[in-house]
Amino acid sequence: MAAFETKAHAKINLTLDVLSRQPDGYHDLCMLMQTVTLSDRITLAENGTDLTQVITNLKYLPRDERNLAAAAAAAFWRETGLKPRGLTITIDKVIPVCAGMGGGSADGAAVLRALNEIFTAGLSKTELARIGESVGSDVPYCVCEGTMLAEGRGERLTALPPLPDCWITLCKPDFSISTPELFSRIDGVKIRCRPDTAGAIEALRAGDLAGVARRIFNVFEQVLPPRQAALVQEVKRTLIGCGALGAGMSGTGPTVFGLFDRREAAEGALHALSVQYPGVWVASPYQPD
Ligand code: C5P
Repeated sequence: MAAFETKAHAKINLTLDVLSRQPDGYHDLCMLMQTVTLSDRITLAENGTDLTQVITNLKYLPRDERNLAAAAAAAFWRETGLKPRGLTITIDKVIPVCAGMGGGSADGAAVLRALNEIFTAGLSKTELARIGESVGSDVPYCVCEGTMLAEGRGERLTALPPLPDCWITLCKPDFSISTPELFSRIDGVKIRCRPDTAGAIEALRAGDLAGVARRIFNVFEQVLPPRQAALVQEVKRTLIGCGALGAGMSGTGPTVFGLFDRREAAEGALHALSVQYPGVWVASPYQPD
């Protein structure tokens, strides 16, 4: 097998609602998801051994199956019954890590799509997404990509009309909070406000960017500790002040994004935020073929 190169795209949550806690501890979610052009570059090559290893430009990331890229390869061999090959998976990480942008899940999903193609397994995206369920809750969505409603743990996917063309400024404030901790915080409160996901879907159907943007909403923002909540609010205020049509936190954070109808305004926000935050990017919506 010749070396195979592919991209893994980040995602943002335009809306995120936590509906209930299931007996297994996982939560029933309702999320409007969008893939964005910010991406990791992934190269796969057979290494002639029985072992799959991951090499990345970030030395602290795991090289074994704790890395979702290697976990995805293991799930692929297990579920397809194909003869496992040892792979070297090289990831050039661009998507910020532990940032609410699904970077690890995107890498896992890209490995599933790549192995399907390299070894002509002939699986549909739905079949690959099902394999992805055992790898991580966001992996099925990351296999399919685009503008989607994700429900259940994240595995019940409904394709939606694409987000209208726009620019997305992303900013990662300097804090991290673990995903399980944020879920347990939300279990301890009564959620006061919830997103209008139905209204956001109507706006997508109407091609109304401003209508989607003003419905950006993430229930996790309500349970951030005060210092972190203040940082998120500050980034959102800067984005809106620079002309964003709407802004919110993605996933379990801490990345905050704003949607813009003008590139100059999105880049203005990038410059304004770069003064204070090292992690700032401008991206666009990405739709798969
Ligand atoms: O499935 P994944 O490993 O990505 O989930 C990470 C953590 O997020 C889980 O251990 C769980 O605490 C939380 N989670 C949840 N409900 C979901 C998805 C994730 O509680 N639907």
